[in-house]
Amino acid sequence: MSGAPHDFGRIASRLGPALLRKRLHRQANIAARLIHQGEGALAVERVIPVDRIIERTLKFSGLGLRGRANCLDIRVVKRDQPLANLPPVFDGFRLLHISDLHLDLIPGFADVVIGLIRGIPHDQAVITGDFADHPAGYFHDCLGDIFRIAEALSPQPIAILGNHDIIEIVPHLEAAGLRVLLNENTRLEHAGQHLWFAGIDDPCFYRTHDLEAAHRGIPAGDCSILLSHSPETYDGARHCGFSFMLSGHTHGGQICLPGGTALVRNGRCPAAQFAGAWSHHGLHGYTSRGTGSCGVAARFNCPPEMTLHILRRP
Ligand SMILES: [Fe+2]
Repeated sequence: MSGAPHDFGRIASRLGPALLRKRLHRQANIAARLIHQGEGALAVERVIPVDRIIERTLKFSGLGLRGRANCLDIRVVKRDQPLANLPPVFDGFRLLHISDLHLDLIPGFADVVIGLIRGIPHDQAVITGDFADHPAGYFHDCLGDIFRIAEALSPQPIAILGNHDIIEIVPHLEAAGLRVLLNENTRLEHAGQHLWFAGIDDPCFYRTHDLEAAHRGIPAGDCSILLSHSPETYDGARHCGFSFMLSGHTHGGQICLPGGTALVRNGRCPAAQFAGAWSHHGLHGYTSRGTGSCGVAARFNCPPEMTLHILRRP
């Protein structure tokens, strides 16, 4: 977007020229991006401004304030995640998972996030995409919050892009201190033992992900954690041999019936991968309900979350 430092040469060398071309082509298709990114479960989403209708319905029904308050009621979900091939030195490793911040949706939202982060000791943080909410990817209003959140997190948080993030945001994220993975991987080393993190570009709207490239160089049998904005890559991730996969994107439905049944589902994945912990033929995974909210500043029966995964040896 305008004003962004366009370091396309460096990004092309990381993402590959063909995938960068594909991404820029889709980014230029503003009409497609404005008509609700991704592929909504309801075809009506493509022709009717569903978000605006929901917003007005909530306003006139008197539920708007409650829905907005629910967006700020972020739950800290703490859970153990056994991993068979976790190196002994990483037993008890505290991995903080933040997803789908959509920072420009609710003024003051970042202050709530930062307050919570300060009360959650962690060894490593990951952010699984969607820093901005604006469907066309305008992100400059979010940059101040991104810098403040990165500063509150453990050194060098690892991040990927979501379907609301345009590629031009990458140099800004890196300037904030985030390690952005564009179909790449990185490893943590402690006492001679390794824990790998891999991250793919958005598989949902841009479809510029490359699981094989993200896994390249990870020795067979090593413990590896894949960051994938949408959980729809779960089967490919299993075939690549990843140990654990973290996603967001679905927002758990965001507006749900009592009991948590989503009114609208935006993920091309089975119900099992839509929210919470899951496993698939030896691959463990977790899909966050999202820390922020998408499109409409309202949540019902689907609280936002930050997730602290405590990695364990079984
Ligand atoms: Fe999102």
